[in-house]
Amino acid sequence: MSQNEAYFNTNKKLWNAKVQHHVKSDFYNMEGFLRGETSLRKIELALLPDLNGKKLLHPQCHFGQDTLSLERLGANCTGVDFSETAIQKAKAIRDQLGMKSDFIACNVYDMDKHVQDIFDYIFCSYGVITWLPDLNRWAHQLSKRLKHGGELIFVEFHPLLYMFDWDTGELTYEYFNQGKPESEVESGTYADNDADIALKEYFWMHSQSELIQALIDNGFIINEFKEYDYSPYKIFDQCKFRAEQEYVYKPGKISLPHVFSIRAQKA
Ligand SMILES: C[S@@+](CC[C@H](N)C(=O)[O-])C[C@H]1O[C@@H](n2cnc3c(N)ncnc32)[C@H](O)[C@@H]1O
Repeated sequence: MSQNEAYFNTNKKLWNAKVQHHVKSDFYNMEGFLRGETSLRKIELALLPDLNGKKLLHPQCHFGQDTLSLERLGANCTGVDFSETAIQKAKAIRDQLGMKSDFIACNVYDMDKHVQDIFDYIFCSYGVITWLPDLNRWAHQLSKRLKHGGELIFVEFHPLLYMFDWDTGELTYEYFNQGKPESEVESGTYADNDADIALKEYFWMHSQSELIQALIDNGFIINEFKEYDYSPYKIFDQCKFRAEQEYVYKPGKISLPHVFSIRAQKA
């Protein structure tokens, strides 16, 4: 087993364990979702084109709320996640709602072995690349699955925010990828502080230049790049509510970038 596979196996255990807690959490608001509310936030809703009849791939879909929200906007969706527990739950929710998105359990780096379709759009969001050691291989996998002229719509937490320890609010982590992961034992989860989970996780820091160069090197043209001074989620305790779907971490009086978005087209 390669070193990265060992890291992925550790992370997969954690993500498998999170699912049952997330499904019940206020954060994921399953009741509202089952009633028809979207799980998508205003940031990505403002970026999404008309999806009616379009084929959309959703890597790292967790238990599928966003995938199914994208189906509600008219897309024919395929969600991918390496957590078998998450994919099982996604299929169960889909069936409960009589929807039709396809869900596939595989590592994002192995998508070319498990997903054959070519898509009009790829969507990924919030908490995705930090679980991946190598953005070049990630961008390669995305590029392979997009048609020429197709678009990646990507919304992610800002690397600056990842430099803080979210428990203490202190600047702790490197900005640049060190070629090896950081690790922590996570107690509880971002969606449920009280979840009885204490498992190790491995994550990687990715600078904006590393990301943008990986996309360029894999045939993407960057059409739009935006940064936001808020997060739609209260991702850690020190974040204060500012407005609907706007949480802000402001050490002193300084405004920080919290989230960024990219629309990148496959040439
Ligand atoms: C923070 S969640 C995605 C967030 C999504 N916006 C949500 O809240 O539903 C990250 C997801 O990435 C998945 N993941 C992590 N590493 C992966 C990998 N190497 N291949 C595929 N999925 C992975 C996890 O199982 C998890 O479901």
